[in-house]
Amino acid sequence: MFTTRPLTTLLLPLLPLLLLALFSSSATPTPTPLSSLLFTLPPLLSPTAEIYLPLHPSQPDEQHQHLLPNPIPGGPEPPPHRWSTSPLNTPFPGVIIRAATEADIVATIRQANAHGVPFLATSGGHGVNRALAGLGKEGVVIDLGKMDSFRLIPRGRAGEGRYWKGDVAVVGGGMRTGDLIDWLWAAGRETTTGVCGCTGFAGVVLGGGHGLLQGRYGIGADQIVGARVVLGDGEVVEVDVAREEGRDLLWGLGGAGHNFGVVSELRVKVYEVGEGRKWWAWQIFVFAGGRLEEVYGVAARMMETQPEGVVVWSAWMMMPEIDPVKPVIAFTIFFSGSLDESRRYTEPISSLGPNGYGEGETEYPGLAGVLGAGTDDQLCQPQGAAFMRGIDLDHYDLGALRNWYNTFSEMLAANKALAGSFCMLEGYSMQGVQAVPPESKAYPHRDKKLLFAPAIFYADATNSSLAQEAVRWGEAMRTAAFGTAQRRTYVNYAFGDESLEAMYGYEPWRLEKLRGLKRKYDPENRFRFYAPIV
Ligand SMILES: Cc1cc2nc3c(=O)[nH]c(=O)nc-3n(C[C@H](O)[C@H](O)[C@H](O)COP(=O)(O)OP(=O)(O)OC[C@H]3O[C@@H](n4cnc5c(N)ncnc54)[C@H](O)[C@@H]3O)c2cc1C
Ligand SMILES: *[C@@H]1O[C@H](CO)[C@@H](O)[C@H](O)[C@H]1NC(C)=O
Repeated sequence: MFTTRPLTTLLLPLLPLLLLALFSSSATPTPTPLSSLLFTLPPLLSPTAEIYLPLHPSQPDEQHQHLLPNPIPGGPEPPPHRWSTSPLNTPFPGVIIRAATEADIVATIRQANAHGVPFLATSGGHGVNRALAGLGKEGVVIDLGKMDSFRLIPRGRAGEGRYWKGDVAVVGGGMRTGDLIDWLWAAGRETTTGVCGCTGFAGVVLGGGHGLLQGRYGIGADQIVGARVVLGDGEVVEVDVAREEGRDLLWGLGGAGHNFGVVSELRVKVYEVGEGRKWWAWQIFVFAGGRLEEVYGVAARMMETQPEGVVVWSAWMMMPEIDPVKPVIAFTIFFSGSLDESRRYTEPISSLGPNGYGEGETEYPGLAGVLGAGTDDQLCQPQGAAFMRGIDLDHYDLGALRNWYNTFSEMLAANKALAGSFCMLEGYSMQGVQAVPPESKAYPHRDKKLLFAPAIFYADATNSSLAQEAVRWGEAMRTAAFGTAQRRTYVNYAFGDESLEAMYGYEPWRLEKLRGLKRKYDPENRFRFYAPIV
């Protein structure tokens, strides 16, 4: 299904000639901004940068046509690595520049501006915000996937200034979450990242970054102590907690970071994996949907004493061997420690008598695989179309949960094409998150303990009536799940129709501050394709 191809380094110098030949043989030789960009940019890129242009797989002989933007019958084609490929929330750029260096990012941005071409950086390709589709076929994606360097600066040598003297990892802007976890683990270190191995580390933490270790260390954004950022005009700025200048930008990177620049490098706090903290236990309790009130009634009580090393993560999905007709509740508890120790905490839920059960122990890096979200797992592969709708809450409202569940069941019964969809109910620990003063980062939801989201999937991403149906069901589920609560949404789970307040905070000073940052660091609003502030 992948329809893009790298032009090898060898071809790169020839590209302008190639395009020239195309123009001269064409009836209407009007260069588009994008084709102009392709004349001027290639010679400025580093030798290992790559350029991808859309090609249609079913017409391999018509490659030439497809060197120019969008003559593709049947619509634009996805880049090789997006998680969702729906035209509703996927950027389908005319060109992908796979940057190898920060200078490649700078050159691409400068040339894009010179030719009036919009641009968007991507790292893991898992963003599902509707605004991403706004990039358009005349846009360029700056893919950071090659920029996945890792360097550890051990304690004492950090020189990271007066605020943080512990270990620091210097991480490339395109590092994947799973790779970072592996690098750190090999060095005996850990830090808060997202769970899913294939997301971009930067893409996740710039929006906040929820993960299994947040109860201990705070969210991903809390780990950022410095960054190199390429601004919308190509200027590179370096921010650091020890430095006064740029501290406002550093604040913004911690929750609204997609709005201000391309982060070529992040410096984050990392921690030695403590004695007795290597191993985690997990237990999965599966319940039929009719038992929802029982399950979440107990979950609500357990949440009152949830230790920092415990994560409660449930998913509603079809599991025909338990219930052939309705979705089940797969209720997973992760516990930092041994399986035997974990049973003390999980006893209230296990004593309900689940309809299905699984358990195990793993070292920390294995946990993503338990959720089926390791780099090689199904959840990490391109999904066809996928939407999420984030719902941030502070308690389990049994009535709202029942309404949401019923709506989800109705959806599954109404259209088999949506059968792969599921609902996530994430209950991470909050100790480390709430230890950080709420005003110290752009991330606004430190009081919300529960992260919910329906995730709707269907295979045929091009079916627009199906897309509309999926969007309608998503809205119905979101409305049900919020109940009477104020609408708040983790920006990285946002669909794209949420209010700015819902994503960035209802306190008026937050949006004022973000708008001020926008005027200062991105006055031309070049970064507008992901939950944009302006
Ligand atoms: C299967 C799955 C699992 C998930 N699990 C988690 C989880 O455990 N915890 C969690 O908090 N979230 C999670 N999310 C949500 C996730 O945070 C968002 O999907 C996020 O946008 C993914 O970032 P990405 O780099 O993979 O996506 P991309 O689409 O590549 O990027 C998303 C946005 O981030 C920007 N961006 C990416 N890298 C950079 C950079 N270096 N500099 C500047 N901007 C950048 C892009 O410009 C774009 O606007 C999950 C999502 C999915 C689909
Ligand atoms: C598109 O989806 C709708 C709704 O599920 C379905 O009825 C229709 O058959 C699909 N169209 C195609 C061409 O598959």
